[in-house]
Amino acid sequence: MKTDSIVNTPFSLPCGQVVPNRIVKAAMEENMAGPGRLPGYALLALYRYWAHGGAGMIITGNVMVDSAAMTGPGGVVLESSSPSDPFERWASVIKSGGALAIMQINHPGRQSFVKLKGKALAPSAVPLNMGRFSKQFVQPKAMSCEEIRDVCQRFVSTAKCAQNAGFDGVEVHAAHGYLLSQFLSPLTNHRQDEYGGCLENRARLLLNIVSQIRATCGKHFAILIKLNSADFQRGGFTIKDARRVIAMLERLDVDVIELSGGSYEVPAMQGQSRDHNTLAREAYFLKFAREILVDTRVPIMTTGGVKQLAVAEQVIEHGCAFVGMASAFAVTPDLPLKWQSKPDYQGVLPYCSWQNKVLVSLAKMAMVRRNLRRLGNNLSTVRDPSPLWSLVQDMWHKRRATQRYLRERARIPG
Ligand SMILES: Cc1cc2nc3c(=O)[nH]c(=O)nc-3n(C[C@H](O)[C@H](O)[C@H](O)COP(=O)(O)O)c2cc1C
Repeated sequence: MKTDSIVNTPFSLPCGQVVPNRIVKAAMEENMAGPGRLPGYALLALYRYWAHGGAGMIITGNVMVDSAAMTGPGGVVLESSSPSDPFERWASVIKSGGALAIMQINHPGRQSFVKLKGKALAPSAVPLNMGRFSKQFVQPKAMSCEEIRDVCQRFVSTAKCAQNAGFDGVEVHAAHGYLLSQFLSPLTNHRQDEYGGCLENRARLLLNIVSQIRATCGKHFAILIKLNSADFQRGGFTIKDARRVIAMLERLDVDVIELSGGSYEVPAMQGQSRDHNTLAREAYFLKFAREILVDTRVPIMTTGGVKQLAVAEQVIEHGCAFVGMASAFAVTPDLPLKWQSKPDYQGVLPYCSWQNKVLVSLAKMAMVRRNLRRLGNNLSTVRDPSPLWSLVQDMWHKRRATQRYLRERARIPG
């Protein structure tokens, strides 16, 4: 039994809440919402596995702040008009094993599928460039200041609803090329008003959201931010920018900054890069975390590529407060518990040897989601799923979820 590992030590967040250990189940969009885009039976079944799997903190897949702006058709939405009960049940399941329950909240901006017929908002009218896959995404329009204020208010209101439902905190998604990361990046933000230009302006929306969540939810509510350490694209958001944004966030008493990287165009969060930076084979962003740790006191978490206890321990030994894992939790939902009795137990990350990088990225996501659905149906997970079959199944599920989403939205007046 290995309980003396450094990952098993508790950590007190700046807000005062105590996380029982350093392993965090990172956000994975499940695409498994029940009717009304609410957490239902399958999501509760899935999170029950994670709740009793030994993680100290569990971050939900991204929950949308606007039902007309979705990252995917089967996503969960929490708006001020949403019923609270399903979210109360979700929070209670997540917390049933002693972990902190954190809801990730997000807006897709331009990373929105045409088929969902949603709002196509972005800081500037710059469409996604994903080669022959580009036409699946909306042509965005530059947001008006009123639309920016509306988005800000939606993030705050969703955070308050999450708190009312029993969540211990929220994670504001400002990474992976979604709306807030589009504001931060000079590649996607060409604005000339107070939300564009210098980094202080590009960070304004994120900072406004965070300070208003703190004012509304109080000092004991945990606020996490998921931030790109870089875009990994030439001319994009850099590690230097990330350090400066973290300094700005530090003044707002945030509890944790989760470092990741990339976007749909360059999925660095899966270990790919398209500039001079190379990513480590495991713990992709640890090198960047170490640079950031030099000048911040905000607890740092790094997520990406971790599947072994020895690597998780290295992350903590280098000064990170937390180590995040996503994909490995899809195959082995109780990986931290397994490590207590078998420290050499190897987690599994999806593997696909195809040439086309976009297809590889889609297939890996599909392989993970296939296991999430299996857990949601109380079935055992598959350690080595076929990329092709997973992709086919994923497309079928997406199509059905899209039809249901469009049907449900058509019933909502306005
Ligand atoms: C199926 C799937 C869904 C994901 N959804 C989200 C999400 O909703 N929010 C988020 O911040 N990251 C999301 N991610 C990225 C993970 O949180 C994580 O940053 C990335 O997978 C790298 O970590 P890993 O190597 O441990 O999987 C997702 C990843 C996968 C595989």
